[in-house]
Amino acid sequence: MIAGIIGATGYAGAELVRLLSGHPKIDSLCLSSVSFEGENIEEVYPNFLGRISCKLQKAEDVIAASDVVFSALPHGVGEPFAVACMERKIHYIDLSADFRFDDDEPVYSAWYGKQYKYPQLHKNSIYGLVELNRQKIKSLAEKGAVVIGNPGCYPTGGSLGAFPALAKGLNRAGAPVIVDAVTGVTGGGREPSRSFHYAECADSVSPYKVASHRHSPEIARNLAAMSAVGGNPAPQLIFTPRLAPVNRGILSVIYIPLKEQWCVNVNNVVMPLSSEIEAKTAEIRELYRAFYKDEPFVRILPAGLTAATNRVRQSNYCDISVHIDLNGSTLIVTTAIDNMVKGAAGQAVQNMNVLFGFEEKSGLDAIPALF
Ligand SMILES: NC(=O)c1ccc[n+]([C@@H]2O[C@H](COP(=O)([O-])OP(=O)(O)OC[C@H]3O[C@@H](n4cnc5c(N)ncnc54)[C@H](OP(=O)(O)O)[C@@H]3O)[C@@H](O)[C@H]2O)c1
Repeated sequence: MIAGIIGATGYAGAELVRLLSGHPKIDSLCLSSVSFEGENIEEVYPNFLGRISCKLQKAEDVIAASDVVFSALPHGVGEPFAVACMERKIHYIDLSADFRFDDDEPVYSAWYGKQYKYPQLHKNSIYGLVELNRQKIKSLAEKGAVVIGNPGCYPTGGSLGAFPALAKGLNRAGAPVIVDAVTGVTGGGREPSRSFHYAECADSVSPYKVASHRHSPEIARNLAAMSAVGGNPAPQLIFTPRLAPVNRGILSVIYIPLKEQWCVNVNNVVMPLSSEIEAKTAEIRELYRAFYKDEPFVRILPAGLTAATNRVRQSNYCDISVHIDLNGSTLIVTTAIDNMVKGAAGQAVQNMNVLFGFEEKSGLDAIPALF
């Protein structure tokens, strides 16, 4: 089987090249680039030397030669390529936001400043958070070619951490869910920008796009869908992203006010963690473990471990640790993903595996690289 990648020279595209070249069902790759057309991928990314040799072509030629197409382009340019794939009756997996809001175009337009040119296309698509939509993806694939809107990186880490608590209705109705997250610099892509210059981002951690990040509506929509699984009302979202001077990884800390509370905080005196809270934490950790028991890429960490980006590096895992604050009022969930893998290329390969009925871990079974 031939996998095509449009936008193969960007960070997410190059990560797709790396992952798909080791996929047991992929025989060869077909790669596109505008800026480097005619050159070989290993000239752009010398880490591929001796392993992958592939000339960069026009996107149209890639689509014509492929059995499945991944698009790792910026937002707003992928629709015509999706149309071409549907005409060829092959699956199209888009890593941008262009197919993440297909049932809510006004939200997409408000945040991305664009409107759909091919509205019909968005009726044949599905949001590719596999843990939420696996069955829908499979059912659509049985009927024909599918467009997948691969989730954003922050929405993946933020949503997976909240899913069990919301679906099981552990949260206090009306109270907002807070997602505080930190990303590494590859999240910004290969195009240089001032805030990503070494001198401006090294040795510093800074919030950015506070109360204005484009991933806010996607996370909020996911939290609503996850609450609906258990017949519960959607919570409000407060989301603050930060940039940290690391290459890969997203760490999210998610605060979920609990419906049931243990008010051990008498007269505002905060005492060390009580055995009552420890027992409740263990109970919720078990609930999380049972909820995700069949998910190959979600790991619920044992007591005493917190999620950390280095333990999921270069892997498709989402690590989750579960805690309750000292007052017993709030569930604190931390999640760690590699933004380039579970947050982008790995999740896209996972979607391909579901679409084609391959073993879901195919091509994604590497142990994380701690260092
Ligand atoms: N980086 C992440 O962690 C991450 C995570 C989740 C989702 N994503 C999404 O994945 C997509 C790619 O992200 P990235 O980080 O890989 O970005 P990137 O490094 O900037 O790469 C995008 C590539 O697309 C091509 N391109 C740019 N403008 C184009 C245009 N107008 N028409 C056709 N091709 C164009 C460029 O390659 P050529 O000039 O060689 O064609 C460029 O290298 C984005 O939509 C992003 O939001 C990224």
